Amino acid sequence: MRDLHLSDMEERTVQAGKAEGALPDREVNGLLEGLAAGRDLSNEAWQFLIAGEYDRKLLYAKADEVRRKHYGRDVYIRGLLEISSYCKNDCLYCGIRRSNHKAQRYRLSEEEIVSCCEKGYSLGFRTFVLQGGEDAYFTTKRVAQIVSAIKGKYPDCAVTLSLGEREKKTYEAWYKAGADRYLLRHETASEAHYAKIHPPELSYRHRMQCMEDLKQIGYQTGCGFMVGSPFQSTQDLIADMEFLREFQPHMVGIGPFIPHCETPFGEYAKGSLTQTLTMAALTRLVLPKTLIPSTTALSTIHPEGRQLGLQAGANVVMPNLSPARVRGQYSLYDHKRCTGDEAAEGLETLKCRVKDAGYEVVIDRGDSRLKPDNDVKYCRKKV
Ligand code: 5AD
Repeated sequence: MRDLHLSDMEERTVQAGKAEGALPDREVNGLLEGLAAGRDLSNEAWQFLIAGEYDRKLLYAKADEVRRKHYGRDVYIRGLLEISSYCKNDCLYCGIRRSNHKAQRYRLSEEEIVSCCEKGYSLGFRTFVLQGGEDAYFTTKRVAQIVSAIKGKYPDCAVTLSLGEREKKTYEAWYKAGADRYLLRHETASEAHYAKIHPPELSYRHRMQCMEDLKQIGYQTGCGFMVGSPFQSTQDLIADMEFLREFQPHMVGIGPFIPHCETPFGEYAKGSLTQTLTMAALTRLVLPKTLIPSTTALSTIHPEGRQLGLQAGANVVMPNLSPARVRGQYSLYDHKRCTGDEAAEGLETLKCRVKDAGYEVVIDRGDSRLKPDNDVKYCRKKV
C-alpha cells in the first residue's frame, strides 16, 4: 500500500476536485482513511468532504466498516421517556420554547415514569432516557429520587438524563443517585452561530461549561447538533467536527433541523437527509467508538431515514416509551414521528427493519467503549 502523507493527498484531492469536478475514488478513500486514523484534515479537505462532490457511498461504506470493527452488527436500543414538555428557554428553533403558547404542556409523575420503565424492561430495554425541557418542577431532589427508584428496581439498566443546563451540584447529585449518562447537545460549535439560533440569555460558553462539568463528574456524556439549521455554514459544520475530536464525547446525536410552525424559524427549510447522513458518517470516522443514534428527526424527514442512518455509521435507536396520552405533545418540530417503529410497542417491526438493513437489535445496556473521564472522587451510592 502506498504511504501517502495526508497533506499531499489533500492538496491533490482538492485541486483535482476543482479542476474536474470529480475525484478518483482512491483519493477520497485515502482522505477517509486518514480521518479514521486520527489525522488532522486541512480546512479545504473538510470543505470537500462536507460538500460531498464525490460518491458518498464511499463515505458511508467507510463509516460502516469502522462501526463494525468496534461494535459489530449490534444496534443498541434506548427507551425514551419525554418527561416534561415545559421549558423555561426560548430557543428559536424549538417547538416547546416558552413563547409558544400553543404548545401542549404536560409532565409525567414518578409513578408514570417508573411504570413506563417496567413496560420497557419487559420489552427488552436496558437503558431508559429521561428527556425533557428545562422544567423547574423537576428539582434536583425529585429527579434524584426518580433515578434512585429506577436504579433500585432495575440495577442492570442504565439511566440517561437529558434535562438541559443545570448547576454542577445538581449534575453531581443525579450522578450520585445512579444516573449513568447525560445528553446535552451542543447544538453548534460556533459561538457566532449559537447566538443566532438562541435567545440572548443562553450562552455558548455556559453550554460548553455544562458539558465539561458532566464529563468531569464521570457521566458518559453526549453532545450533538442539528444539520441545516438556519444560518449554518460549512465552516460551522467543520467547527462541529473539530469540537467532537477535541471533546471526545461518548455519544453524539445528529439530526436534521425541521421547522416548527409556531417558532421564529417556522418558514426556514429543513435540513437534508444526505447532509445529515454525511455528518453522521464523518462523526463515525472522527470518533470510531462513539455511540451515534439514528435519530427520530432523520426518520421524520425520510421513511427509511432510520435504516439509512444505521448504514451511515449510527448504532443506536431510541424508540418512544412515553405513555400514549402524551406522545403527540412533545412537539419539538412539525410532524415528529412517534408511532410505528418509533414507538416502543413497535419493537418487533423495528427489529425486522434493523435486520433488513444488515444489523441486529441486542438486549444490552450498550455502554460506550470509551472510559469515563473522572476519577473516584464522585463515589456512587450503592444500589
Ligand atoms: N428540529 C430538529 N431538532 C430539534 N431539536 C429541537 N428543535 C428542533 C427542530 N426544530 C433538537 C435539539 C435539542 C433536541 C432535544 O432536539 O437539538 O437538543
